[in-house]
Amino acid sequence: MEHNDSTDIYRYSPDYYSYVFQGGKLGTRFILFLIFFSAISGYACMNCHEPHYANKGDCSLCHRGNMESSRKNIAHFGIITAKYSGLYTDENDVKTGKEIVEDSACRRCHIIGAKGENSAVSLDYRAKIHTGEYLADKLINTNEYMPDFHFSDRDVTKIIKYLLFASSGTVQKEAEPYVAYIKTSDDDVFGKHCGNCHKVITRQSGGKGTGEIARNLSGLFSQYFDSDVLQEGDDRWTPELLLKWVRNPRSINKTTIMPPVNLSKNEESDLSKLFENK
Ligand code: HEC
Ligand code: HEC
Ligand code: HEC
Ligand code: HEC
Repeated sequence: MEHNDSTDIYRYSPDYYSYVFQGGKLGTRFILFLIFFSAISGYACMNCHEPHYANKGDCSLCHRGNMESSRKNIAHFGIITAKYSGLYTDENDVKTGKEIVEDSACRRCHIIGAKGENSAVSLDYRAKIHTGEYLADKLINTNEYMPDFHFSDRDVTKIIKYLLFASSGTVQKEAEPYVAYIKTSDDDVFGKHCGNCHKVITRQSGGKGTGEIARNLSGLFSQYFDSDVLQEGDDRWTPELLLKWVRNPRSINKTTIMPPVNLSKNEESDLSKLFENK
């Protein structure tokens, strides 16, 4: 009798025996409680709403929220409202959103759908903790180092649907480490020589430069940076190419309007390091 054998082991240890026994009982109660609770939990939203799309999944698949609470404020915490709920229903919107994100090279600064550079916040993480309204607001009222793309409202909605969709399939740990502060010290080669025209976000030292007239150079060496000036064959920026460009932009693109910039050897090496983004 296996069972009796094992209880025998505890016979001389009454405290331990009763602890295990009661624990077992509590464990069973707890499991019954969980079964009961999960059976009703799916319905907490339905205290107040008619179900729909029930064949596609739980309310939280498309709306998030807290399905275990029948109190509206708690149930609605982080809710995806009707406007942005179409992540699994409006396939064309999600597809267009994806195309816009790719055309705009958002991934040279952000991680989206587990891909991209993380010089700015991970949008997988942010899309999990923020509502669609919040993200849309940030896309329209951009902060200093996030470029203003002047998207139409309709495009914003599509982009947000895609961001919500892309984030739902990814595992997120913590917010990615990132820095976005302005540092203007004397040894700031970018601020001094490039910052009047460009901005950049770097992993090591944050946002630099204040220029609006030329491109934000974040993620320059990454596969996501889509160059306006490189010719066929040189389709990706490298440290060597960057220094060649800075010394004489026209040696790379005959019609470019960027003027040559004179840098000392030390400044050149600081500049390459700045863009390495490791
Ligand atoms: C206690 C009642 C109550 C519960 C529980 C509740 N809701 Fe609501 N919900 C409302 C009311 C009332 C509105 C109307 C808008 C408002 O007052 O926020 C609403 C609005 C909404 C909207 C539309 C928001 C918009 O503006 O597009 C969605 C989506 C929604 N609820 C989803 C859910 C989901 C999902 C759950 C469960 C996780 C849930 N609700 C739980 C009462 C509730
Ligand atoms: C497959 C995705 C999906 C699921 C699952 C889903 N919804 Fe929705 N929900 C949407 C979409 C998309 C909309 C926007 C309007 C529409 O397309 O019907 C929406 C709109 C709503 C609205 C706003 C209604 C209105 O007319 O403005 C409420 C409330 C809501 N859903 C509640 C729920 C509740 C409660 C559940 C769970 C029983 C649920 N939804 C499950 C996708 C979903
Ligand atoms: C040049 C780098 C850069 C590019 C390119 C870029 N962003 Fe950003 N983005 C930022 C920075 C910097 C922030 C601000 C982060 C902060 O302060 O929290 C930001 C913030 C955001 C936020 C708000 C996040 C939050 O939780 O506050 C959203 C949403 C966003 N970006 C979407 C996009 C989308 C979509 C694209 C492409 C269309 C894009 N970004 C392209 C740098 C960039
Ligand atoms: C006087 C303004 C000005 C300064 C200073 C300046 N740039 Fe530029 N830069 C531009 C302009 C304008 C362009 C766009 C050129 C074009 O499209 O023909 C550009 C383009 C670039 C590009 C190409 C981006 C692409 O699309 O591939 C890089 C890389 C670049 N600059 C790096 C730098 C660096 C590094 C510095 C500092 C050492 C710097 N620039 C200083 C104005 C400037």
